[in-house]
Amino acid sequence: MTSRTRRALLFSPGDDRHKIEKGAALDVDALIMDLEDGVALTRKDEARETVAQALGGVQFGNSERLIRINPVDDDNEWWYQDLEQTLPHNPDGYVLPKVENAEQIKRADDIITQAERRYGWLYHSVHLLAIVETALGIVNLKEIARAAPRLTALIFGAEDLAGSLGAMRTSDGWEVFHARSSLVLHAKAYGLQAIDTVFVDLTADDSQLVTEVEQAHYMGYNGKLAIHPRQVPLIQKVFTPSAARIKAARQLIEAFKAHQHSGRGVFAYEGKMVDMPMIRAAEQLLAQARAAGLDVD
Ligand code: COA
Ligand code: MG
Repeated sequence: MTSRTRRALLFSPGDDRHKIEKGAALDVDALIMDLEDGVALTRKDEARETVAQALGGVQFGNSERLIRINPVDDDNEWWYQDLEQTLPHNPDGYVLPKVENAEQIKRADDIITQAERRYGWLYHSVHLLAIVETALGIVNLKEIARAAPRLTALIFGAEDLAGSLGAMRTSDGWEVFHARSSLVLHAKAYGLQAIDTVFVDLTADDSQLVTEVEQAHYMGYNGKLAIHPRQVPLIQKVFTPSAARIKAARQLIEAFKAHQHSGRGVFAYEGKMVDMPMIRAAEQLLAQARAAGLDVD
């Protein structure tokens, strides 16, 4: 799994230089410059040009520079043009939408591999992230998850999925829960990060977004898509281990080491049984905190 932390990934429309600059200044883990559904059909060329220029001219700080291209399919050549025109500017990765099979990932992978050779970049340095957001995509999660080594994350797309299912979106999300759960399961089975869907209601109370982010976090998701700057700190906070949880994890690991020395593999700590799964969870929490730039040692 990539160690790059991806707690919030903010979409900015690719044809809007102002939003790209604004997003780049936010200290967000990843900025996704969109060439797909956030761009009008009449502005695709302009968006490619704007994104190519932004990669050369905007200061992104520590934010990962990702581009969402159009779906890899044979209906049109947009996706191919998206890659051809932006690859020379060396983005950190590409987000592929509406992925339904391994072949789509391999086609994008081939073109990126050729660019890495041409420019002498490190092999697999340009990452791929796949959005799975159709019924067929969910059914094919297994072949998608192991399609290519440069694939580092699966992203859940609830809005398009609801359309593909003929389902109606509700606030508790049960209509997409099986798919949301299946996506994180497949991601983790194949060593990938799992990123949760967008929260589209910009008028909702912050607590509603936080509840949805917490739910994703408890399910094992590593991060969530964002569509507005206001969502970024709320999301990143939920995926950043608190000082109290870091302290508790460290103390648990210390207690475990002490018991190991005295020859006991399982023991009671603060009224609860502790054995290896809890220790592994504590170690994972410390790894997450380190990846988020916190000093835990
Ligand atoms: N990235 C960067 N900056 C953004 C932003 C985004 N996604 N969304 C809003 N902003 C900026 C605005 O430009 C504005 O900046 P300003 O004060 O300097 O003018 C500020 O944040 C406040 O924005 P606000 O007025 O609340 O929103 P808006 O009406 O300008 O935009 C949306 C609303 C939904 C159009 C906008 O949030 C957006 O474009 N989101 C991303 C959409 C997208 O990419 N969708 C595809 C994936 S689902
Ligand atoms: Mg979509």
